[in-house]
Amino acid sequence: MLKKKIAKLTGLKESEIPGSYQIIGDILLIKMKIKSPTKKKKIAEAVIKILPYVKTVCELKEIKGELREPFVNVLAGSSTITTHKENDILYKIDVNKVMFSKGNLLERKRLLSQIKEGETVIDMFVGIGYFSLPIAKLTKAKEVIAIEKNPTAYNLLTDNIHLNKINNIIAIQGDCRIAARTFGGKANRIIMGYFPGTEQFLPAAIWMAKPGCIIHYHNIYKEKELWDMPLQQIEEVCKAFNKKFEVIIKKKVKSYSPRTLHTVIDFKVI
Ligand SMILES: C[S@@+](CC[C@H](N)C(=O)[O-])C[C@H]1O[C@@H](n2cnc3c(N)ncnc32)[C@H](O)[C@@H]1O
Repeated sequence: MLKKKIAKLTGLKESEIPGSYQIIGDILLIKMKIKSPTKKKKIAEAVIKILPYVKTVCELKEIKGELREPFVNVLAGSSTITTHKENDILYKIDVNKVMFSKGNLLERKRLLSQIKEGETVIDMFVGIGYFSLPIAKLTKAKEVIAIEKNPTAYNLLTDNIHLNKINNIIAIQGDCRIAARTFGGKANRIIMGYFPGTEQFLPAAIWMAKPGCIIHYHNIYKEKELWDMPLQQIEEVCKAFNKKFEVIIKKKVKSYSPRTLHTVIDFKVI
């Protein structure tokens, strides 16, 4: 629909216009296949004319590195900072500095429905609070310990805690493997919302787990590695800590690249 309207307004071929995009607050993020800066600008200006609530259009170039930092190119408008509202929660975000995993909506709903009264939840890779803010505000969890390494994401997280008037999130800036030392045996639930290479953080997670703790372990695996490799990785770490584990659910969340999947395993540490 949007594609057709852009084509009409710009005179470009529909095949030159991207079919998918993401709206965060008043910013539209789009991946472009075409190379021409003039055509990209034309598309962005048309978007602003067609969708009056969009103030900025950014081309999403890549998301890179350990801190999953995005790189965007502003095509129309100016500010890359916006406030996104979802389920009554406000998320202040700078789309040029941190990623917002809006696509994981179902996964977040599934997680929220499981939180029990009085739980201490540890979010090892909190970002700007995509999981932690709704848990703190919308469930009966006692507290959320929210750890983030990237100072920019951490600052946005603390802004978001104030913006949403939340008082049961303990925000910590630093590497979760170091922060974990302070929280041995403290967690009823642990969220490991980061990949690839999440297996290297399993020892810190198991260290923080109370008996009966549920760990939500996200990672990337090749189809042919499922499910032996992740289960073996979990087993090895549990064994080293003299613990056992029980799988609650193992799920393919979405395709990541050809024959490679974003997966989540919920398991209980016993
Ligand atoms: C993919 S983002 C996801 C954030 C959030 N879980 C979500 O779903 O929106 C991963 C986050 O983990 C942070 N991170 C990476 N390595 C970390 C570490 N060792 N300790 C704490 N945070 C880390 C990154 O800076 C980034 O903000």
